[in-house]
Order: sequence, then structure tokens, then C-alpha cells
Amino acid sequence: MTGSDFSVLPRHVAVIMDGNGRWAKKRGLARSEGHIEGAKTFRRIGEYAGNLGIKHITFYAFSTENWSRPENEVNAIMHLFGDYLKEALDRLDENLKKGIRLRFLGDRTGIAPELANLMDTVEKYTENMTKINLNIAVNYGSQQEITGAVQSIAEDVKAGLLQPGQITPELIASRLYTGDQPPVDLMIRPSGEQRISNFLLWQSAYAEFWYSDVLWPDFTERDFDEALRSYEKRNRRFGGV
Ligand code: FPP
Repeated sequence: MTGSDFSVLPRHVAVIMDGNGRWAKKRGLARSEGHIEGAKTFRRIGEYAGNLGIKHITFYAFSTENWSRPENEVNAIMHLFGDYLKEALDRLDENLKKGIRLRFLGDRTGIAPELANLMDTVEKYTENMTKINLNIAVNYGSQQEITGAVQSIAEDVKAGLLQPGQITPELIASRLYTGDQPPVDLMIRPSGEQRISNFLLWQSAYAEFWYSDVLWPDFTERDFDEALRSYEKRNRRFGGV
């Protein structure tokens, strides 16, 4: 497929990479094996989305609630994430050619300093890339994100820089991690679950949802095409008629 095969493309796609654990269990493997396969799928789909002409895509890699998983699983996910960051820097030329701008959404203070430093470096090195903006949500929680935005606005009101009446939805949106990015048009959740799980709550106010029973490690470019096909047919009304 190419982008021109679709009459309309979502500006911003969000993906909940769900089902890695079940994929591994079905094969008698450790859950971390499912995450390894999931990370491969993430690479494929991110690149494919860029080639199709999607301008913004956000993958949910680790939520603020995921810290409650067994320590070895948390370590495995962080390790995979670290490998990806190192690879992004090792293959910088290749990545720059692909035009991928990488950004990370979430509370970086809760992340190991070495990883957080790598995140800062990768963001800086890719900041001029314009083909696709690829966000990875790590230590991310949408309610926490909105709370942080409200706190920063409250500080400005307290300092006399803002009047309460000047607080608008646009102002709140600008204080989120996605500040300068468009709202989510299409939210994809594989693995049979139909929940939003504290992901991009504000940004998804008018998002179209697409669910599938496919487990994330088995998710292919064809599944992504199917989600885009479905989106193409939706009649988006944004509360109008
Ligand atoms: C949800 O599936 C998946 C996660 C919580 C982790 C997703 C992380 C990755 C795919 C690797 C991250 C790496 C990079 C490079 C971004 P689940 O474990 O909840 O699956 P289950 O519902 O079947 O148990």
C-alpha cells in the first residue's frame, strides 16, 4: 500500500501494543519473549506508517501503572526500550534517512537516569526530521499528564501571568506532552480488549476506535491497512450532524 491508496489518512494514530503476554503464553514462552516480538512489530509498523505518509503516531510502551508488574518483566521492557534507543543512535544516519523524529511522552523523572539521558539525546538528534513524528509513551499516564498541565496553569495564575478566564481547551492541550501535535484521529487496540487504559484521554476526545483480536506480536502491515480502511469509511461528525 501507499498513502495514495487511501482517500483520507488520519493525521495522528495511537496504538496500544497489547497482547504480548498472551502471545508468549500460547507458545509456552516467558512474557518477556512476547515483548521482544512486540518490539519488532513496533519497529515494522512505525516505519510502515511513515512510508504511508502518516505524520504522527504514538505507541503505548509502558504506563505509570505497569510498574506493578513483576520486576523481571519491567526490566525486560526497559531493556528493550534501551536497546531501541541505542540502536537509534548507532544507526543515526539510517534513521535520519527514514526521516523519523522520535519523541517520548511520559514522566521522565521516574525513569533510570541513563535511559532518560538517552531519551533526551535521541530527541535532540532527530528533532529536525519531518517525515513522521513517532512518539513512544513511557511511564505515561493520561490523568497524570492532565494533572501536570493543570498544575502548571495554576502556577501561572498564581504568578499573575494568566486570568482564570483565559484557561481554554487549547491552552490545556498546549501544556500536554503532545503540546504541538494534532489530536488523535484513530486509536488502534489489538488483542481483543476494548479499553482506553489511561492513554491520551484528552487527545482522543473525537478519535475513532479500531479494535482487533490479533495479538500485537502478530499484528501486520495488513492489519494496519485494515484499520486505515475502516477509518476512511467513518463519518466523523465532531458532535455535529
Ligand atoms: C502490553 O501487553 C504490552 C506492554 C505493557 C509492553 C509493550 C512494550 C513493548 C512492545 C516493548 C517496548 C519497546 C520499544 C522498543 C518501544 P501485555 O503484556 O499486557 O499483554 P497481555 O495482555 O497479553 O498480558
